[in-house]
Amino acid sequence: MKSVVILYASITGNNEIIADKLFSLLSETVDTVDIFEIDSIDIDDIKIYDKIIFCMYTYDLGVIPYEAEDIFESLEDIHLSEKKFAVCGSGDIDYGEYYCKAVDIFEDKLVRCGAKKMIESLKINLTPSESDLAEIKLFAKRIIAFE
Ligand SMILES: Cc1cc2nc3c(=O)[nH]c(=O)nc-3n(C[C@H](O)[C@H](O)[C@H](O)COP(=O)(O)O)c2cc1C
Repeated sequence: MKSVVILYASITGNNEIIADKLFSLLSETVDTVDIFEIDSIDIDDIKIYDKIIFCMYTYDLGVIPYEAEDIFESLEDIHLSEKKFAVCGSGDIDYGEYYCKAVDIFEDKLVRCGAKKMIESLKINLTPSESDLAEIKLFAKRIIAFE
C-alpha cells in the first residue's frame, strides 16, 4: 500500500477542515497517511512518501501562503519524477481570476518538476459545503485508486 502525506496551510481553518477530512478518508484504507502543516516539515522529510497532497489558501491577489514558500522553493531539490501529487485548496470566489491561484501555482511547479498529477486540482469556495464534502470524498477515492 502506498504512503501518503498531506501538507496544508490554513489561517482561519477552511483548509484545515479539508486537510483533516482527506486525512480521515484516506486513513480508512491507506496504511501510512501523515498530515503536517506545510511549514512544520522539511523537504527531505517528504521524500519517503509516494503520494503528496497539498492543501492551501490563497492570499493577496493570487499569492501562495508565506508558510508554503520554503517547500515551494525547494521542490526542485528533490527527485520528484517518482512522486504523485494532488493539489486542493479553499479560496474566495469573489477574487475572480485570482480564485485559488495558489493551487494553480503549486500544480504548475510540480508538473514542471516532473511529478505525476493524480487528479485535477480541487478548488473550494471558503468553508466546505455538503456538496464540497462529497467532492472531497471523490477526490480522496481517486487518489487512493491512482496507481
Ligand atoms: C487579505 C486576503 C487576501 C486574499 N486573497 C485571495 C486571493 O487572491 N484568492 C482567493 O481565492 N482567496 C483569497 N483570500 C481568501 C482566502 O484564501 C479564503 O478565505 C480561504 O478560505 C482561507 O483559508 P483558511 O481558512 O484555511 O485560512 C484572501 C483573503 C484575505 C483575508
